[in-house]
Amino acid sequence: MSKKQILITGGAGFIGSHVVRRFVKNYPNYHIYNLDALTYAGNLENIKDIEESSNYTFVKGDITDEPFINSLFEKHQFDGVIHLAAESHVDRSITDPLAFVKTNVIGTMTLLNAAKTIWKDDFEGKRFYHVSTDEVYGALGDTGLFTEDTAYDPNSPYSASKASSDHFVRAYGETYGLPYVISNCSNNYGSYHFPEKLIPLFINNIIQEKPLPVYGDGNYTRDWLFVEDHAVAIDLVFHKGKNHETYNIGGFNEWKNIDLVRLLCQQMDEKLGRDKGTSEELITFVKDRPGHDLRYAIDASKINKELGWEPSVTFEQGLAKTIDWYLDNEKWLKNVTSGNYQNYYKEQYG
Ligand code: NAD
Ligand code: TYD
Repeated sequence: MSKKQILITGGAGFIGSHVVRRFVKNYPNYHIYNLDALTYAGNLENIKDIEESSNYTFVKGDITDEPFINSLFEKHQFDGVIHLAAESHVDRSITDPLAFVKTNVIGTMTLLNAAKTIWKDDFEGKRFYHVSTDEVYGALGDTGLFTEDTAYDPNSPYSASKASSDHFVRAYGETYGLPYVISNCSNNYGSYHFPEKLIPLFINNIIQEKPLPVYGDGNYTRDWLFVEDHAVAIDLVFHKGKNHETYNIGGFNEWKNIDLVRLLCQQMDEKLGRDKGTSEELITFVKDRPGHDLRYAIDASKINKELGWEPSVTFEQGLAKTIDWYLDNEKWLKNVTSGNYQNYYKEQYG
């Protein structure tokens, strides 16, 4: 039997690298093509351990490059697509929104068109899986959870671009019959996370004893999920999810930013052998993010009931694993924070 040809986009990024690793290791009957443009957020070091695998090919390319994407689909006749490539950082979307429209909207459209063209005569056994975010639902007040039926209400250019791409995926399902699944996940954390997002940025700053810039009063709430648990959920949705359905993924694990930062400081002081309270002194309240969403929280009961998924680690366990990984991989951290990172940091934090 010939191998299934599976395209994963964004597989050199944070979540994508965990998904690619899982699929290459667990599915020898698939050939995995990892398509990534290697932007500032993509790094081949993230998947170094699987690069020699016989069922794996890395392809450097841009999802907005239509002729290239069409010829890639033509050449490999993909059976399935797991689409993660995106511009993913809210703060960058505030300074450069068009880049988000280009990659997240036009890029997704380019992939959808290529899949529709290649699969037009036969959708049997085909699947387009679009990986999205809970941020498309907007902000919650102090209570309530996002369900799959919550109306879209995005507030940042990032979430608006992801909402738009979700809508196009649905539209291709309704209009052309494209077999799709979408998942909307809460905030991830874990290894290989670029240090511009809260947790890896603060780990890096604590190591370097630099200020920890908490936006506003720190009373914003996020629902955190260990990235390897997200990769398991993606595997399940890809293989067992129902066509034309959406699945919310989250850890029922809400933390106010300031409480999370305090826990991180405590765990890091212990691991670094610093006196209790040392890292908390680095906390600095800075100007708030414009349009900052107050609270995200996912109701993950559908994926739990229908696909049997649940997180495998508590937040304390996942955070400890994450800190250990960053402490053991200082070279990775140094590599990704050299060069352009310094300019980004200066522009964002002064
Ligand atoms: P990331 O920024 O770490 O990685 C994105 C990857 O996409 C990088 O490897 C980058 O090189 C690649 N990429 C960017 N533009 C590209 C283009 N034009 N062509 C090809 N490749 C390109 O992002 P992440 O945090 O791993 O997120 C992956 C996906 O999951 C995104 O779609 C994001 O919206 C979604 N998501 C992320 C989170 C989170 O907490 N990080 C939560 C829910 C959903
Ligand atoms: P982030 O990791 O950027 O994820 P998202 O904005 O997609 O939820 O931010 C998580 C939370 O942490 C969010 O409420 C913004 C806040 N935050 C800070 O307080 N300081 C920072 O330097 C960053 C990057 C985020």
